[in-house]
Amino acid sequence: MTDALPPRLLREAYDRSADRYDARFAALQAEKYDALLARLSVDPRARVADLGCGTGLLLARLPRLERPPLALDFSGPMLRRASAGAWRVQGDLRRLPLASDRFDLVFSVTSLLLAPGSARGALAEMARVLAPGGCLALTLLARDRGFGVEEALRAVGFLPGPPFSCGQDVGWICRRPP
Ligand SMILES: C[S@@+](CC[C@H](N)C(=O)[O-])C[C@H]1O[C@@H](n2cnc3c(N)ncnc32)[C@H](O)[C@@H]1O
Repeated sequence: MTDALPPRLLREAYDRSADRYDARFAALQAEKYDALLARLSVDPRARVADLGCGTGLLLARLPRLERPPLALDFSGPMLRRASAGAWRVQGDLRRLPLASDRFDLVFSVTSLLLAPGSARGALAEMARVLAPGGCLALTLLARDRGFGVEEALRAVGFLPGPPFSCGQDVGWICRRPP
């Protein structure tokens, strides 16, 4: 994470490459979804958010949900490609424009691409929007674990499970205690 692009430049890079994203990354991301979904059972009644959802590839893989999931990304061109069945919100992981305690399951798949201080702030935001007893399914590029993610998760109140290989990423299933 030490070489993280400033958020504005990162957003502009995703804005520019949105139309090529699926062709380039869908297969790589699918390996991550398989690894996560093998470790989670998604309750159809769950209130689900995909934070840094990109083009919505993960949401298209989830079982049918009773309530539309939330799809959030700071890149408008990426978000516009996400499923029209989701409730789409353009916003930043560092300051989620969402009420507290409102989701049961939050995904962040390769979306925490921030410098360490901001990444810790984004994890605190994820903890804030999860209801007590909720669950965060997190993956990071393997090169980005070095910022002390497990300590950061515990510091904001998560109980992270053991890390696991998640395609090119490292994954964690993290509980927010009831
Ligand atoms: C590698 S893509 C992953 C997209 C998606 N999670 C997937 O599985 O295909 C990273 C995404 O995170 C979004 N992102 C990165 N930093 C963000 C931030 N600070 N706030 C909101 N979205 C962000 C980018 O716009 C991009 O869509």
